[in-house]
Amino acid sequence: MLIDGVVRSNVIAGQAVHEAWGGVVPELASRAHQEHIVPVVQQALAQAGVEREQLSGIAFTQGPGLIGALLVGTCFARSMAQALGVPLLAVHHIQAHVLAHFVRDDQPRPVPSFPFLNLTVSGGHTQLVLVRSPLDMEVIGSTLDDAAGEAFDKGAKLLGLPYPGGPLVDKYAATGDPLRFTLPLSAMPGLDMSFSGLKTAFMNLVRNGEARTPGFAERERDHLCASLQQAIVGQLLGKTRKAARELEIRELAISGGVSANSSLRKEFAAMGTAEGWTVHIPPFAYCTDNAAMIAVAGAFLLEAGRTASLDVVPHANLG
Ligand code: KG4
Ligand code: ZN
Repeated sequence: MLIDGVVRSNVIAGQAVHEAWGGVVPELASRAHQEHIVPVVQQALAQAGVEREQLSGIAFTQGPGLIGALLVGTCFARSMAQALGVPLLAVHHIQAHVLAHFVRDDQPRPVPSFPFLNLTVSGGHTQLVLVRSPLDMEVIGSTLDDAAGEAFDKGAKLLGLPYPGGPLVDKYAATGDPLRFTLPLSAMPGLDMSFSGLKTAFMNLVRNGEARTPGFAERERDHLCASLQQAIVGQLLGKTRKAARELEIRELAISGGVSANSSLRKEFAAMGTAEGWTVHIPPFAYCTDNAAMIAVAGAFLLEAGRTASLDVVPHANLG
């Protein structure tokens, strides 16, 4: 990525290690980062057709995230920026998910205009963000317990599906009836959200079903996935609608791994049409974790002159 915002390459290392263990094991994740970082950077430069000396800056994720993995990226970025004598740009992971809308590629699409309301939904975060400018964001609502992605993944695990279960729930829900099982809607006041009650209700539904008729979870898999998905998407969109109406914002966007969910994408677009809002949904490649969104966030930091010092450290809970 050079600083015109056009993506030259977007390389992602395989995440097979997580699948094998049914979730992210922090120590294994940092070891995998160590193994992959040099070949991934080399591959990214080769695909982009760019020499190291042509880089205008080095952007990296400062946090939030798993500290071991963040440390690997931070140390590498610091060394590379120092060796090349270029600015270092410390990116906030969740802000980068919001800025994914500004990644440009060979498929032209309109970018959100400011201010806009972004629903950021990933494996670790669920937030409603008022975005005033690329570097001025305010979280106006968030989950008080599990993230939406976690609700998908934990529900999937209860059905014996491999990690990460979100994409599989999406796939099986397509042939399921969301009305077959009723799951409770969270009654959180204001713009905050909660998914832990839903997780418990889903666990009880599956366990009681299995106790009554063994094989229940497998037989009813598609309907269970459809009900779970509908409950998660319903809460996300209900809160988004409430926030947009209250703030009188007509420009809306979604991003983060869960925004790859087909039901969320479809219903979000339908809500936009019904309410007369302009909605932005990034292509799949920029929904789940990706390098391009970190680069574009870095480009905004560079443009604003907000460079990091070479002794910058990562923060697992970067606020
Ligand atoms: O943003 P992301 O790639 O990583 C984090 O920063 O957490 O999000 C990963 C999350 C996982 O929980 C995964 O199950 C979920 O996004 N996810 C989906 C879908 N694709 C990814 N959830 C529901 N439906 C999908 N199609
Ligand atoms: Zn993410």
